[in-house]
Amino acid sequence: MNKNEIKLSNGMEMPRLGMGTWFLGEKKQKDDQETAALRAGIDAGIRLIDTAEMYGDGKSEQLIGRAIKGYDRSRLFLVSKVYPHNAGRRKIFKSVQQTLKNLQTDYLDLYLLHWRGAVPLEETVECMEQLVKEGKIRSWGVSNFDTDDMRELLSVPNGDHCVVDQVLYHLGLRGVEYDLLPWLEEHQIPLMAYCPLAQAGDLQKDLLKSSTVKEIAKIHNITPMQVLLAFVLYQPNVIAIPRSGKAEHVLQNWNARKIRLTDVEYGLLDKAFPAPKQKTYLDIV
Ligand SMILES: NC(=O)c1ccc[n+]([C@@H]2O[C@H](COP(=O)([O-])OP(=O)(O)OC[C@H]3O[C@@H](n4cnc5c(N)ncnc54)[C@H](OP(=O)(O)O)[C@@H]3O)[C@@H](O)[C@H]2O)c1
Repeated sequence: MNKNEIKLSNGMEMPRLGMGTWFLGEKKQKDDQETAALRAGIDAGIRLIDTAEMYGDGKSEQLIGRAIKGYDRSRLFLVSKVYPHNAGRRKIFKSVQQTLKNLQTDYLDLYLLHWRGAVPLEETVECMEQLVKEGKIRSWGVSNFDTDDMRELLSVPNGDHCVVDQVLYHLGLRGVEYDLLPWLEEHQIPLMAYCPLAQAGDLQKDLLKSSTVKEIAKIHNITPMQVLLAFVLYQPNVIAIPRSGKAEHVLQNWNARKIRLTDVEYGLLDKAFPAPKQKTYLDIV
């Protein structure tokens, strides 16, 4: 990774590495451990935290709310997501209010449409713009949008104010490199990679067993998981949000920002897990 922050099209600076929180906050008995993991991350310098109203029906947001208590809010970069069925005039304002209450804050740095639903894009964009005006959110973006969805979004009034697209991207699933990633780069929109660890290899079993991944891990004295992170962060227009409920793993993931894969190492990973040579439609988890 060559830069720790990335400039968004509205001038804001966004950290390139943060913490995901899907499934966190859902089990009462893990509360202390998960709060400690998030706090260890913030103490180490992580500023970006990604969540959604969907995660544990607000429980993930609530866990973050408790974890960030006592920290300087202005140093954090909080991201949440609205359900597609809440992303219209009738419901979005209530949704954002609940999210802010859960997070115990009065603004979001970034608010994402979680995936495309039945509400017309024009209406969602209008609402997002209003939320920016009201100071409830500093910026907005989308998630799970493929290239055609992005083109359509940019054709609606103020659609070009979208600052990121959050999509599934890891070493074993590189379809976005064919057209979405170049398209986003051309439009100065970073790609936020979710599941950058392929859910600890669950999404693709051969990743962590790969001799190439293991060899590169050995050379750098790092873990295979850190190789996966270094791989997505090798692309300059990519932000990654690995999730862990364990402080030790959070810190390992944070240290991945310092790893510089050589072009030769990148080439070896590229050969072991090639990007498709034709359009593949965006996968979703
Ligand atoms: N927009 C969307 O539609 C969407 C969809 C999916 C995810 N997301 C976002 O992206 C985030 C990341 O995706 P994800 O949570 O699905 O999967 P992920 O980050 O690829 O993988 C999480 C898994 O990796 C393990 N792990 C993390 N760091 C590790 C380390 N250093 N060593 C060993 N194991 C490690 C975690 O277990 P431990 O807790 O034991 O460390 C957990 O089982 C989510 O949390 C969420 O914020 C967004």
